[in-house]
Amino acid sequence: MKMEDLVNYCKQYGYIFQGSEIYGGLANSWDFGPLGRELKENLKKMWWQEFVLSKKNSYGLDSAIIMNPNVWVASGHVASFSDPLIDCKKCKARHRADKLIEDATSGKVTADGWENKEIEEYIEKNNIPCPTCGAHDFTPIRKFNLLFETYMGVTEDSKSKVYLRGETAQGIFVNFKNIERSMRAKLPFGIGQIGKAFRNEITPSNFIFRVREFEQMEYEFFCKPDTDLEWFKYWKQFCMDFLIKLGLNKDNLRFRDHSKEELSFYSKATTDIEYLFPMGWGELWGIADRTDYDLNCHMKHSKEDLTYFDQDTNERYVPYVVEPSVGVDRLVLALLCDAYKPNYEENGVTRELLKINYKLAPYKVTVLPLIKKQHAEKANEIYEKLAGNFPTTYDETGNIGKRYRRADAIGTPFCITIDDETLNNGTVTIRDRDTMKQETIKIDEIVNYVNSKINS
Ligand code: GAP
Repeated sequence: MKMEDLVNYCKQYGYIFQGSEIYGGLANSWDFGPLGRELKENLKKMWWQEFVLSKKNSYGLDSAIIMNPNVWVASGHVASFSDPLIDCKKCKARHRADKLIEDATSGKVTADGWENKEIEEYIEKNNIPCPTCGAHDFTPIRKFNLLFETYMGVTEDSKSKVYLRGETAQGIFVNFKNIERSMRAKLPFGIGQIGKAFRNEITPSNFIFRVREFEQMEYEFFCKPDTDLEWFKYWKQFCMDFLIKLGLNKDNLRFRDHSKEELSFYSKATTDIEYLFPMGWGELWGIADRTDYDLNCHMKHSKEDLTYFDQDTNERYVPYVVEPSVGVDRLVLALLCDAYKPNYEENGVTRELLKINYKLAPYKVTVLPLIKKQHAEKANEIYEKLAGNFPTTYDETGNIGKRYRRADAIGTPFCITIDDETLNNGTVTIRDRDTMKQETIKIDEIVNYVNSKINS
């Protein structure tokens, strides 16, 4: 499947639209339509349940997007949250220099963590061309800071300059002490947060893979020093298991451990879980052992004591942090790439299908009166009953086959047909999206039937 096909599919069925489309769009901004919004919410709910609610030593947070600018000075983002920018002198196209290498070598060489000089030399030596015009005539690399700046207050002077957060993680670090105190939390414990992050990416690309405005699901796990590598191993596997639980195909997932050269200077270990997107393998989820770096930085700049007193050992120390961080939009893209089958063939039938985890599907059920004139009243009654239990749609236009096809295409797990049997015997026909098998059940059994299938 090509990415272009997925973009068209998402637009046609109300998953994702181009942002500000009636004004000609805004480069790489995307709006989630009614179905995309539900899919995203379901995904976030599943993550929240797994990372925050199902664990005793886990807490949630919803911190501000605009924070004191010193947060970003302390975290190092103001000084070094940048990408290597290179311009083509011929066509003036702007590129991320490390990505030029990655793309030219089909991902075989990653220039993550390389010095600018090293990147320039590689581009020169390997005669890498500008992907836009084919010339090989570049400017030297410049650092381009990714933080979005804005102004708070009434005047646009430098004193009121603030930043849109580049990651949600910093909101967690600056609230570490608040949460430890108010929740009487004992190490090891984790804090999870879901929210928007903003990065002025040089080359946003590949649909919703790399965008300037996106959501992150981040988890900072605070632990005793020297236990960090053990926890790092635990969270790596936990994240992989979660992706498989979501329904992603194992063959499309792999771990990629960062080499020593790639590691940030403060990180002891980092692994990406990569997914095989239509354009090739790409980072889906980053799991990093961030040591005590962030808390130390905030302690130094804020002058607040962020140490932890361990009552078991009578020691005071700065906790270490293991961080699994994933983008909601990027994970939605992986889920759609995995589930969307434009021409799904089985048992001699070819159909367009979104074979997505039932829990993630935007609608769980669609109610279909077989003949509008005769069955619509009863169908509406059943719709009202079901809609209070799970997301339900109602469709009375076109023949029943076409309505089944539409439900398959958007991934709705169950079609419920209302016919004469419903009026006479109080039964409905329920059709399963994946097997296309139909069963007859009583109206009163629908809710339990659907719930048990979704949760099984
Ligand atoms: N707090 C650590 C952190 O932000 P990151 O590797 O820069 O680490 C984590 O980002 C995850 O956020 C990535 O693995 C990816 O899923 C997502 N992400 C990062 N930049 C993104 C972008 N421009 N567009 C969409 N998702 C992005």
